[in-house]
Amino acid sequence: MRKLVTPVTGPLKGEVEEVDHNLQTTERETPSESLGTVQKETITMAILTIILLVSTAFALGDGMIRPKTPCEIARDTAMKNVRPGVYVPMCDNDGQYKPEQCSGSTGYCWCVNSSGQKIPGTETPPGIAPIICSTQNGTIRPKTPCEDARDAATHGPIGAYIPTCDAAGRYTPEQCWGSTGYCWCVNSSGQKIQGTETPPGTARINCSIK
Ligand SMILES: *[C@@H]1O[C@H](CO)[C@@H](O)[C@H](O)[C@H]1NC(C)=O
Ligand SMILES: *[C@@H]1O[C@H](CO)[C@@H](O)[C@H](O)[C@H]1NC(C)=O
Ligand SMILES: *[C@@H]1O[C@H](CO)[C@@H](O)[C@H](O)[C@H]1NC(C)=O
Ligand SMILES: *[C@@H]1O[C@H](CO)[C@@H](O)[C@H](O)[C@H]1NC(C)=O
Repeated sequence: MRKLVTPVTGPLKGEVEEVDHNLQTTERETPSESLGTVQKETITMAILTIILLVSTAFALGDGMIRPKTPCEIARDTAMKNVRPGVYVPMCDNDGQYKPEQCSGSTGYCWCVNSSGQKIPGTETPPGIAPIICSTQNGTIRPKTPCEDARDAATHGPIGAYIPTCDAAGRYTPEQCWGSTGYCWCVNSSGQKIQGTETPPGTARINCSIK
């Protein structure tokens, strides 16, 4: 729409008349112009509405057509059961079990196969770095003696000696008892090597040389 600026700045009669003429011209053109615009807008709106409805139907259909997977059924059942501490399975976007599952209340994590069944030897207690299930290429290493001993000690009395294992699950050459501060060297079976124990505050023996 044209704005009439002239009357404000130019008070001369001629200019005002000219403006009036322009205004009339504009008014005469407006009905046909706006009718065309309205028709175009109506068509555009109709097309947009159809596109919106069709895409909405597809979006709804997508969510509704795929039946729930066993993981999703198990998850939804667990979530309805609002008791705190209940294990809620974790599913990916396709509804499949995620390779790693954790219990929020106990802090335990473990690996599952595609049926959601726990793979033996993959459970890790809270505070222990969980096994990265997805990078194990389907074959998950069973726990080593060091890892079994560590996990058992984690459940034992507070202050008990907890073995230290490396990434491959072997005993690290040096072991320390956190609560007493004693350290010693072990052989690959985790057995203490005689004469290597050092009390807290004393220089430790380099077990790697042993
Ligand atoms: C998952 O593990 C369970 C128990 O070990 C087994 O019965 C089932 O066949 C496994 N499923 C797949 C798809 O490997
Ligand atoms: C994982 O499995 C694939 C196919 O079986 C194989 O080619 C690849 O070498 C495996 N990777 C590891 C780290 O085992
Ligand atoms: C570790 O030490 C224990 C006790 O000395 C011994 O019985 C065992 O054979 C040793 N293990 C290895 C792998 O050397
Ligand atoms: C122990 O000895 C090894 C081999 O000589 C050396 O590489 C390492 O840095 C030493 N570690 C410490 C804590 O002194």
